[in-house]
Amino acid sequence: MRRSAILGVGHHVPSKVVTNDDLAKLFNTSDEWIVQRSGIRERRYIEGDGVFASDLAVPACKMACEKAGVALSEIDAIIFATLSPDAFFPGTGCFLQAKLGLPGIPALDIRNQCSGFLYGLSIADAWIRAGVYRRVLLVGAEVHSTGLDFSDEGRDVTVLFGDGAGAVVLGPTEEEGRGLLSLTLGADGRGATDLWIEAPSSGRSPDRITKEMLDERRQYTRMNGKQVFRWATEKMPEASRAVLAEAGRTTADIDLFVPHQANLRINELVARKLEIPMEKVVTTIDRYGNTTAASIPLSLSEALIAGRAGPGSLVLFAAFGSGYTWGAGLLRL
Ligand code: UT7
Repeated sequence: MRRSAILGVGHHVPSKVVTNDDLAKLFNTSDEWIVQRSGIRERRYIEGDGVFASDLAVPACKMACEKAGVALSEIDAIIFATLSPDAFFPGTGCFLQAKLGLPGIPALDIRNQCSGFLYGLSIADAWIRAGVYRRVLLVGAEVHSTGLDFSDEGRDVTVLFGDGAGAVVLGPTEEEGRGLLSLTLGADGRGATDLWIEAPSSGRSPDRITKEMLDERRQYTRMNGKQVFRWATEKMPEASRAVLAEAGRTTADIDLFVPHQANLRINELVARKLEIPMEKVVTTIDRYGNTTAASIPLSLSEALIAGRAGPGSLVLFAAFGSGYTWGAGLLRL
């Protein structure tokens, strides 16, 4: 039976470290509040003008190809997940494709925020199992730092997010028990404005963004944190249980749990609900904050480098984010 396997994983973060104390110099917050509420100690920001999500993606993709032993020229398709695109259009996958020097192959963007990696995995898996493409590059990359509200009004959101990229190369495997065993996705658009950026918007006339909108700070992320927290701690365990049941496994079988990194408290609660000990849970949020679509592949990449998983390991992924969107996946490396 043909399944999709992760052949290689890569990541990249910018070198500029921004600590909680650095943020406390800009607006009314504290290291104590941020660590206690979210587990975040620092995050990375790009430096200067002209560094885009596609630029962070390039080294992550090259590393994933190298780890996979796959030449860039062997990639058949690109899937790019981001909520901080290089431009309103075209898709960031097109910018990345040019930067990787791969003219001709399809480049697809998906907009599923923190669940973007799992939505992308689902598409890549369908292509691979159907034999449409053999080598799919799936990347999540975000430049959040240029879109954060560094005033007291935006502090609940701003302290959470960081820049970074993570990528995987996927391909078919016939090896018994290897590859993506089960995956589930969900969404509930009734929560769309609980975590969103309102402007620019195609529905605003005569201009998609105006000086008044900028003055009202409507170009920045707004979040109903408590609602998002509540939903995340319901949906991530629910989706995880669904993929485990579909594959006939239990949480005791899991070698590594790689949840989306939105808040350490969310992941501790999710792990407790699933009865997965924290030793099996990957945590990178303390150092990178929430890197949205990048967080799962970035965390997996670091865990593999640290030797926390390897060929044969059973890995559970789960995510929840804006949309609302959520998902979970079970995969044997
Ligand atoms: O990837 C998915 C996206 N995001 C998430 O999953 C985030 C989900 N939500 C959360 O992680 C949490 O709701 C937060 C970490 C954002 C906030 O934690 P909370 O325990 O829900 O705090 P809160 O929003 O209820 O705020 C408590 C207090 C408020 O002050 P008052 O009204 O009690 O006086 C806030 O104004 O903390 C204040 N506050 C801050 N104080 C210092 C909010 N942000 C900050 C801040 N620094 N950065």
